[in-house]
Amino acid sequence: MMGDLPVPRSVAIIMDGNGRWARSRGLERIFGHERGIQAVRETVEECARLGVTSLTLYAFSEENWSRPQREIDLLMRLLERFLVEERKTLMDNGVKLLHVGRRERLGPSVLARLDETIALTAANQRMRLGLAISYGGRAEIVDATRRIAEAVRDGRLAPERIDESVIRAHLYRPELEDPDLLIRTAGELRVSNFLLWQISYAELHVESVCWPDFRKEHLHAAFRAFGGRVRKFGAVVP
Ligand code: IPE
Ligand code: IPE
Ligand code: MG
Repeated sequence: MMGDLPVPRSVAIIMDGNGRWARSRGLERIFGHERGIQAVRETVEECARLGVTSLTLYAFSEENWSRPQREIDLLMRLLERFLVEERKTLMDNGVKLLHVGRRERLGPSVLARLDETIALTAANQRMRLGLAISYGGRAEIVDATRRIAEAVRDGRLAPERIDESVIRAHLYRPELEDPDLLIRTAGELRVSNFLLWQISYAELHVESVCWPDFRKEHLHAAFRAFGGRVRKFGAVVP
């Protein structure tokens, strides 16, 4: 709680609707992505201030590689800019950046900026920020399975020792806590391959505004809705 506002420990957000935001104003889709950066900054600052300990933002999915090359190039350029320009915001708010996803298809200069910002913020303690870039939930489970199989093959892990905690430990960023609350903007009622393992008991909240219009008031509304949920985890709650 922060005052009378319930605050989840771990939050994940599917930042959707940038293209629709721009198109509805007669602009090219990329302007929506550019505007979305403000919403990212405000959300990161507000989550850190309120005491969220893990925030994971879906910025670019494995499936988003199928978009037109021009949009991908512009998105990557924006991402690079974000990773440099937001360093001050991350430092001022005690935010530690982590990458969630595959590195293989990312260009060398995005990777360089990403690694620099991760190194710069590594000692920050207030909130962990997972940036899901080139991320797919199924891809993550495939990658974890491969690494577990290698450990078994090399005799470092007995098959009967594989349990949920072993699988969790082989996911991309086990230091991010499983989301208590998953928010999606722009009204779509689907998960789109985000954090499939981790959201097993997340509460879902769908906001109708497109991501560039997402303000801290919308975050607060999501937190209040979360506070009203009865979480049962399969048990009988009196
Ligand atoms: C979300 O906005 C951002 C990314 C997926 C990179 P979209 O680009 O998906 O916007 P819509 O859903 O087409 O409006
Ligand atoms: C999910 O949004 C991915 C991100 C927000 C980065 P999409 O716009 O790619 O998802 P779909 O295509 O509507 O399912
Ligand atoms: Mg979309």
